[in-house]
This record gives sequence, C-alpha cells and structure tokens, in this order.
Amino acid sequence: MTKMKIALLGSIVATMATGAAAAELNLICSADVVICERLVADFEGSHDIDVNMVRLSSGEAYAKIRAEGRNPQTDLWWGGTGDPHLQAAADGLTAEYKSPMLDELQPWAVSQAETSGYRTVGVYSGALGWGYNIEIFEKKGITPPACWADLLDPGLKGEIQIADPNSSGTAYTTLATLVQLMGEDEAFDYLKKLNDNVSQYTKSGSAPVKAAARGETGLGIVFMHDAVAQAEEGFPIAVVAPCEGTGYEIGSMSMIEGAQNPDEAKVFYDWVLGADVQSIMPEAGSYQIPSNKNAKAPEAAPDLSTIKLIDYDFAEYGGAERRSALLARWDADVGGAATE
Ligand code: F6P
Repeated sequence: MTKMKIALLGSIVATMATGAAAAELNLICSADVVICERLVADFEGSHDIDVNMVRLSSGEAYAKIRAEGRNPQTDLWWGGTGDPHLQAAADGLTAEYKSPMLDELQPWAVSQAETSGYRTVGVYSGALGWGYNIEIFEKKGITPPACWADLLDPGLKGEIQIADPNSSGTAYTTLATLVQLMGEDEAFDYLKKLNDNVSQYTKSGSAPVKAAARGETGLGIVFMHDAVAQAEEGFPIAVVAPCEGTGYEIGSMSMIEGAQNPDEAKVFYDWVLGADVQSIMPEAGSYQIPSNKNAKAPEAAPDLSTIKLIDYDFAEYGGAERRSALLARWDADVGGAATE
C-alpha cells in the first residue's frame, strides 16, 4: 500500500471513530471585531456548526473574495458597506439567495437585495459624519467643524484622520458621497485640499475616531455610529452630521458563489437577520440601525430622520465600473499610504 493510501485510510478510520466531521462555516466579518466575535459566539452556542471567522475591512474583503475566485475558501460575508457587496454581486462572485426572512426587513434592506438580483441583502444602516475630541479642540482653541467645507480650515492641519477607500468601505462611502454632493472634479479638488489636513489614512474605517478618542488626533471622518460608540464608552467625543448633507451605508451580507458550505451559510444568514439577534448589537458597542423591522434600534443610534441625507445612488456607486474608476482616480490624485 502506498503512503498516501495509508494516510487516507488513517483519516477515514479517525472520522469513523469520532463520528462525522463537525459542520463548519467560513465567515468574513466586516463590521467591528467586538460584534463579529459576539455573533460567532452566540451562533456557535445555539448551533452545531463551527465558525472560522476573519475580520476584514469592506474593500479588503471584496479583494479576498475576488482573489479566491472559482476556488472560494469563504462561505459567507457579513457586514461592511454595501458598495463592495454590490460590486461582488455584479462580478458574479456572490450567490443568489432569497431568505425567508426578507419579509421582516426594512424596505431599504430589501431594495439592496433587489438591486443585486438577491445576491446581497441589507443588515444595518448608518450615516456618515465625524467625531472630534472635545478636549483637544478646546485646548487648541479650534472651532469645531459643522460642515464638509469647514474641514479645509488650515487650523485643522494634521488634526484629521480618515481611512483609505481601497481598504475601507467607510472611506469609499465618503468619496462617493462627496462626488454626489459636489460633482466628481470638485470632489477630487476638495479631497486634495483636505489631504493637507490629514495626518494619516488608516486601513479600517473606524480607526480614525478610535484615535481621536485616545487623543492621538483631533478628528476622525467615520460613520456617526462609530463616533457614538466611543462617546458611549466615555471618551470625550462629539458627533457631527455635516451641514451640507451626507451619505449613508446599507451594511450588507452576501453568500459566496460556489461556497463549500452553502447549507451552513444559509443557516447563519437566516439566523443573523432575526430580530432577536439584531437587537443585541448595542451590547457589543454597535449602534447601527438594524434591518429587521422588529429589532430594537439602539437608543444611542443617530436618528437618521434628523440628518440631511443625500439620495445615495447605491446601484451607481456600487457598480463595478464606477467604484473601480473612482478608486483608481483617488490613488492617482490623492494617494496616501494605509498605515493601520
Ligand atoms: O465599525 C462598524 C462599521 O462602521 C460598519 O458600520 C461598516 O459597515 C464597517 O464598519 C465599515 O468598515 P470599513 O470602513 O473598515 O470597511
């Protein structure tokens, strides 16, 4: 008998001795690591499925799924901004699935599914803005910015952090928001000027406001719920919705086309859309608006009805051509090394 046959026989005998191999699920999670870990713990606690989870920012997750291509190692992608989920859907990298839970979801979450031919679905939403460190601003005598235009104030030189839109969905949402607010050429002019005030382009979208909370920078351009999370933890962070209007995300979830564990992926998919599961998010410091109509929205969540939201065109800015072109132009015109 060859060595390979002996090894194969050995593994069959081992499986027979221990029973069937445990069901498993390979998950990419693109929200904050604390909620990612909480979801995995709760799911494993209530199901006989082991979850292998990796936390990646939205753009990085898209790049990984694209690189895996026809040999996917990932089964399910939960969280992260909707634009790269839509791009993955358009690329045929994610699978069509109509969850029985769709009836329980908010119209914006269902509309995300419809836009993608049911290859993605909305799991939460939240608006873009910034958080600033009240103590730093007071100490330096800087007037807190209320509008996008105020962020260009030379007094803010070196005080702003934002993520790199290639890795971060938050930063891509910012780029697409500014293009929709100002027009493309004007938005890039604005971003080039803003660059004078930016000390660091981080990899993860929420890192800038975490740095502001620790006093390492004055202000982070982030989703408002990520700024709220720092304020709720007791840091001296004030949260701002820009006066000209702002964009928002439909955080999404997608099943991977050709996944090795499609049944397990569906179990998690339906479970995580449930009202009870979505209601635990604030316990893990996540203050987005949940997509299930019956889930309890966090009390501290920014009230989207009081914020001037733009009519964000998800189909256009999550489209493969537009997203790739904007990122290429950002690299060429603004650049900036991801540092975290
Ligand atoms: O921290 C949570 C969160 O802001 C989500 O709401 C969002 O989908 C995700 O992070 C975006 O992260 P990133 O910008 O790192 O892709």
